[in-house]
Amino acid sequence: MKFKNKVVFVTGASSGIGHALAVEFAREGAHVAAVARDAARLTALSDQLRDLGVDALALPCDITQREALKAAVDRAASHFRRLDILVNNAGRGLYAPLATVPFEDFDEVMNLNFWAPLWAIQSALPYFERQQGGVIVNISSILGKVDFPWMGAYCATKHALNSISNTLRMELKEKHVSVLTVCPGRVQTEFQQNATKYRPVQNSSWSAGALSPEDVARAVIQGVWTRKREIVIPRAGWLLAAVQHLAPGLADRLAFAFSSK
Ligand SMILES: NC(=O)c1ccc[n+]([C@@H]2O[C@H](COP(=O)([O-])OP(=O)(O)OC[C@H]3O[C@@H](n4cnc5c(N)ncnc54)[C@H](OP(=O)(O)O)[C@@H]3O)[C@@H](O)[C@H]2O)c1
Repeated sequence: MKFKNKVVFVTGASSGIGHALAVEFAREGAHVAAVARDAARLTALSDQLRDLGVDALALPCDITQREALKAAVDRAASHFRRLDILVNNAGRGLYAPLATVPFEDFDEVMNLNFWAPLWAIQSALPYFERQQGGVIVNISSILGKVDFPWMGAYCATKHALNSISNTLRMELKEKHVSVLTVCPGRVQTEFQQNATKYRPVQNSSWSAGALSPEDVARAVIQGVWTRKREIVIPRAGWLLAAVQHLAPGLADRLAFAFSSK
């Protein structure tokens, strides 16, 4: 077991990638603090995790409320008497042209996808410092590396998340806190149905060839274990990122063609 008796705090644990991460970490022996708004789903998850032989704490919380998020981190640290791994996973999509995207929607995804991870990090750091180490995992997206039309607001939140992940990695190195950025491509979760949409999205073209949440969770477990700095999954995502840097005009045409399907 890779993480026996370690304590993992996972946001967005009620579904998709976060749920799979909670289960995979528990299988590796970690105790889990599970955070999301849906209390019933968190309770069901906690029961499932306890059946795997670990302790689990359901912490229903809207993480866009800064004080509530801090209280959840404090509660987890006090319940388990330590905190080892923070997984910033909760996130949401926004499909809207930048020309008309309502400020309120942009603000909402910025709060969830960018500010909440930073607030969680600031809340967890005193515990990591006390223990002289810790791991931060930021679940970003391939759209934190490349840009797609009509997803500009979402891309901006994930580019910003990638940027602070890189900075934090340098700032926290001496404190033995490592930072793993995870950039998945399409994953079969409730992401599409939960996204705010101001234009139609083709669910069939989205799910074709998508990863499973378990694929991502297993890659994250391995990445934390080996203290990797970044995971792009599937690896073809690196190719997209390279095309964006080396041939930006071609990258624009590819992204436009994909988004117009
Ligand atoms: N699916 C993909 O194709 C894909 C690709 C790349 C990156 N990602 C990223 O992966 C992460 C997980 O997404 P997913 O695909 O697993 O989507 P998902 O199934 O929609 O899960 C999103 C999770 O976030 C939680 N959440 C949403 N708003 C919240 C809030 N205000 N406070 C607390 N929790 C909140 C949801 O729980 P409640 O509704 O119960 O609060 C849910 O557990 C996101 O950061 C997403 O951007 C996804």
